[in-house]
Amino acid sequence: MKTLFDLRKNSDPKTYIEINQLYGGDLLIFEFQNQEITPCTGCWNCWLKTPGTCVLKDRMSESYGAFVNSDTVIVLLDTAQGFINHRGKAFIDRTIPHFHPYIKLVDGESRHLSRYDRLPEMVFYFEREGLTEEEEERIEDYLYRTAYQFQTTGYRIKDLRHPTLKVLNRRPAKRGAQSFGAVKKMDKLVIYNGSPRRSGSNTALILQEVSRRLENSVEIRDLKHREEWGNWQEKFSKEEHILLMLPLYVHSMPSHVMDFIEGLKPSRGSITFFIQSGFPESSQSYYLEAYFEQLAKRLERTYLGTVIKGGMEGLKARPPQSRQKMIEPLATIIEELINHGHILKDSCIQLGKPVQLSLLGKAFLKTGIINYYWDQQLKANNALERKNHRPY
Ligand SMILES: Cc1cc2nc3c(=O)[nH]c(=O)nc-3n(C[C@H](O)[C@H](O)[C@H](O)COP(=O)(O)O)c2cc1C
Repeated sequence: MKTLFDLRKNSDPKTYIEINQLYGGDLLIFEFQNQEITPCTGCWNCWLKTPGTCVLKDRMSESYGAFVNSDTVIVLLDTAQGFINHRGKAFIDRTIPHFHPYIKLVDGESRHLSRYDRLPEMVFYFEREGLTEEEEERIEDYLYRTAYQFQTTGYRIKDLRHPTLKVLNRRPAKRGAQSFGAVKKMDKLVIYNGSPRRSGSNTALILQEVSRRLENSVEIRDLKHREEWGNWQEKFSKEEHILLMLPLYVHSMPSHVMDFIEGLKPSRGSITFFIQSGFPESSQSYYLEAYFEQLAKRLERTYLGTVIKGGMEGLKARPPQSRQKMIEPLATIIEELINHGHILKDSCIQLGKPVQLSLLGKAFLKTGIINYYWDQQLKANNALERKNHRPY
């Protein structure tokens, strides 16, 4: 079975005929047009309470059966601000129920096991209009990375009128094209919290410490408050220093963060990014870092850099002392940013370790402690016996 997801606002059914011909068969088509995809909230119910099933009920969850039972999935995407737009990102984030929390190691990086024997090949199309060459490359790299995460092959269709398939080959993330900039000591830093979690957010825990230490020099805004977005997007143009702190979601930003970014306009001032992620190795965040460099350029703001910290998933479960020990260097790097007007390179390199998993890290994963951590939670939810459930 081949399934086409047209996530574009202005879908164009004529193009389906061409794609149908490419595959010589009947395509199952899901057109979204004005229908939004509810953003993943990071609740982990699909892993820990109802294995394989998302609690959100919308068109996306209705299409899960078609997704996992297809041998090929074709996704037509809109772009915004030089990246796939928030709807495309929500589509990718919401595929997380098709994976297990359990981890294997591939080429020095952690990867979740697939819940199903195999996931479909992924074919992507996005409109090139309005993109710079660098942005187009970074989108392509990100889509490659998504297919890699799905443990399947990724393709791109460049021209919908004459569709042919281009294999998305492995390419290292194009980060480092922009070096970290510097400004004067900051009077005030506006920090956006990009975690969609309603409770138990690691970002929120880090920002609590930042707020405690830097009370008068920071203003923290939680992007879950959508009702404030218009006001904040307007203020963005006038505010001098901005930091966007967010959890990594499928190698990129959570979809609501992309939605917020779409409403930002070029303006003077600085911008810094802080990504924290579940897997220990910072290389997981490199494709997003590569995009953030381009975003700073598009927004015409001084890019002060991207801080990356992995291994944060279990933060809230740690005993208070160990939690505080983990949070302190993260708050310190923000304090340094405010006091010096730039990210201290050494602190950033330190936080980014390990870039990939060393032999020691590999040995740790082999002990099965991480899988035990997930199993304990499944057990507490009376869901352990359903851990291998395949609802579709
Ligand atoms: C949908 C989803 C996708 C995720 N994707 C990744 C990923 O690609 N790599 C990674 O290391 N962690 C990933 N994580 C883990 C989060 O980045 C990590 O748990 C983070 O600490 C959550 O922060 P928060 O509690 O502030 O939301 C993902 C989590 C969710 C819910």
